[in-house]
Amino acid sequence: MNNETKAPRGVLAKSMGFSLALALLFTLVANLLPQVEGEAPVDQEVDLGALTMDSYVALGETLFSGKGTCALCHNDLGRAPDILAINMVEVANQHLQDERYKGSATDAESYLHESLVDPGIYVVKDYGKKGSNDTISPMPAVDKSPIELSEIEINAIIAFMQAKDGYDVTVPLPTEAAAAEPASPEVQKSADTIEAVVAKYSCQACHVILGSGGDLGPALQQMAGRFTREEIRQGIIAPDEVIAEGFPPGVMPQDLAEQMTVKELDILVDYLAGHGKSAATSPASPAATHAEGAVDSDTESMISSFGCLACHVMLGSGGKIGPGLDDIGSRLSAEEIRQSIIDPNAVIAKGFPSGVMPLNYSAQMSEMQLDALVDFLWERK
Ligand code: HEC
Ligand code: HEC
Ligand code: HEC
Repeated sequence: MNNETKAPRGVLAKSMGFSLALALLFTLVANLLPQVEGEAPVDQEVDLGALTMDSYVALGETLFSGKGTCALCHNDLGRAPDILAINMVEVANQHLQDERYKGSATDAESYLHESLVDPGIYVVKDYGKKGSNDTISPMPAVDKSPIELSEIEINAIIAFMQAKDGYDVTVPLPTEAAAAEPASPEVQKSADTIEAVVAKYSCQACHVILGSGGDLGPALQQMAGRFTREEIRQGIIAPDEVIAEGFPPGVMPQDLAEQMTVKELDILVDYLAGHGKSAATSPASPAATHAEGAVDSDTESMISSFGCLACHVMLGSGGKIGPGLDDIGSRLSAEEIRQSIIDPNAVIAKGFPSGVMPLNYSAQMSEMQLDALVDFLWERK
């Protein structure tokens, strides 16, 4: 197995852009439909009746490398099956017949849909999370945060996967009624300037970039000339492959590839590869002054934001679906606590149901958040 399938981990405190999924969809559609391009102000509703299957497929292709972030993993680097290079419909039909397949799909379309919203149902051999023996998928559910594709967008991507290899598209064209469904109200907007990307991912918590920042990691001002674009790209999405001399491994977030859109990564690489030298004179961004706070280390707020209290009693409140955690440190070691969070099914607490605790925390938390959480719980004795 290649070394790029490191367990994906979490989420640094993120600044979410709030906008309506529909507005975004309409904007995308507007950009794709020649007849409205140029004349339609961004917020003007596009008549979905005018949407052709060709433009729907094109929307899917745009989403694949854009908002869907699919191309971050599904490319020729071996991290995930190279969907653009393989015949995905044929592969879907094969996997449907596999004895390991436990889902409820009946054809390629429903299989693809299921793969997107519930990737763990069938994990392609050798692509599972490290150590999970192909039982846990590193792929995030694309209808959930942070990707949050709407049903219309998911179907557009399925349409694209069918059409690219010459199959008839079987998903329906969206109707106005479907578009009116309340899609997820929060859509993470792709940041579109270097300042916005740096602030969104808190690079300045650890690096001097854009003229200011911390010193946990090397200053990023002088990369141009010393590193190729590819090395810079790797430094961001696979930071532990090569460790900068004099700096600790495992500190730089390992999951930026999952969180960033292709566009954001390009903005960073372009900037670091091209403008490293002139950056020193840029004014300090406000993010720098909050560098510490930008990395979410406030454990109690983390516990509430991850919804642990829905099922566990802790700090005097919470649900009883899972065991109380106020004495967890006296029952489990730090390592066991860690495992219960990132791989809850590995050991099931006696008297409690398996399969209830969410399986995707490791994909939602950064390593630092997990460490903070484990330390915090381990001290509950
Ligand atoms: C963080 C990396 C990552 C992202 C982002 C991601 N995937 Fe995946 N995906 C994987 C991995 C790894 C697998 C193989 C393991 C598995 O079967 O779950 C996979 C499996 C799949 C499969 C099933 C393949 C099969 O043969 O059964 C499909 C279809 C798929 N992804 C489509 C997508 C689409 C479409 C997107 C974007 C909306 C996407 N993925 C985003 C990593 C990712
Ligand atoms: C929590 C601290 C932290 C954050 C946040 C962080 N990094 Fe890093 N980064 C490090 C450390 C430590 C290293 C050196 C160890 C290594 O190479 O992995 C590093 C290494 C790098 C390197 C390789 C540098 C070299 O000289 O080889 C690049 C490029 C980089 N980071 C870019 C970024 C970008 C861009 C962001 C924001 C998107 C970011 N980092 C966020 C800590 C961090
Ligand atoms: C939807 C319900 C649910 C949520 C949300 C949830 N858990 Fe759990 N958790 C469970 C159940 C049920 C168990 C017992 C079965 C098992 O061990 O998997 C459990 C087990 C555990 C255990 C092992 C307890 C023991 O005594 O062995 C720990 C530690 C734990 N959860 C921590 C957390 C943390 C931390 C969060 C938030 C990040 C969280 N859980 C969120 C349901 C949940």
